[in-house]
Amino acid sequence: MTEHNRPASTGVLAGRTALVTGAASGIGRAIAQHFIAAGASVVLADRDETVRDVASAAGASGAVVFDVAVEEQVIDAVDEATELLDRIDILVNSHGILTESPVASMTLSTWQTTLDVDLTSVFLLTRQVLPGMLERGDGRIITIASQLGQKGGSGLAHYAAAKAGVIAFTKSLALEVSSQGVLANVIAPGPIETPLVDGISEDWKRAKRAELPLGRFGTVDEVTPTAVLLASNPGGNLYVGQTLGPNSGDVMP
Ligand SMILES: NC(=O)c1ccc[n+]([C@@H]2O[C@H](COP(=O)([O-])OP(=O)(O)OC[C@H]3O[C@@H](n4cnc5c(N)ncnc54)[C@H](O)[C@@H]3O)[C@@H](O)[C@H]2O)c1
Repeated sequence: MTEHNRPASTGVLAGRTALVTGAASGIGRAIAQHFIAAGASVVLADRDETVRDVASAAGASGAVVFDVAVEEQVIDAVDEATELLDRIDILVNSHGILTESPVASMTLSTWQTTLDVDLTSVFLLTRQVLPGMLERGDGRIITIASQLGQKGGSGLAHYAAAKAGVIAFTKSLALEVSSQGVLANVIAPGPIETPLVDGISEDWKRAKRAELPLGRFGTVDEVTPTAVLLASNPGGNLYVGQTLGPNSGDVMP
């Protein structure tokens, strides 16, 4: 997003602090930019060093570079982000990887890496931000899953399983902590034009477009308002353990 088309501040997140992962690219980058435009103080996180440039261009409070799948790095990075922000009111998990592999020939390493990066990381990050949120009786945890976690995907069993895990993790977390002021929810987008889908075969993308009721993939700017809503007060106050689907009609729960 360039300076001239950055959305005007609505101020709905004024005074709030957020850590946004996967913020070097795609949906995470757009969410971080929109949170800042809405008045939040944001630290951008990614394993890709370019997140530092994205953060300074966006007017962020800082950037942390780490691998979300490595426990010690998550612990250190959340500490660093907490120092930069003073506290973390909102965690957005928008990191992720996607590879294609049929189950019959999938290696254990492909399976395990996807589970580590797309699911275990969400537990690790959540565990690190929760004590502060619980102490203050105030927090929002928003995780980007996928509509494939609801319906499955051929050649994508590892990814779909991780995303289904994120949805079940979030429901369980919501049962544990919502009465203490911490609201956890999932956004499960359909196909969105980002570098993540560049790696999927053209055949898959053509077939996917054809089966979508809307007939097209979405853009990041069509996903970010859902994250702003979930993070906001009063707009997000009644969402607890929900899965919101900006998905071109791919799934209608
Ligand atoms: N693009 C889509 O069609 C789509 C659809 C549904 C869900 N999603 C989900 O949305 C989220 C964001 O995806 P995107 O489309 O913006 O993809 P993207 O590739 O543009 O961005 C993902 C970011 O995550 C970072 N990342 C990956 N592994 C990491 C790790 N181990 N540690 C730290 N950072 C890591 C990458 O460096 C990248 O910047 C992902 O969880 C993805 O599964 C995407």
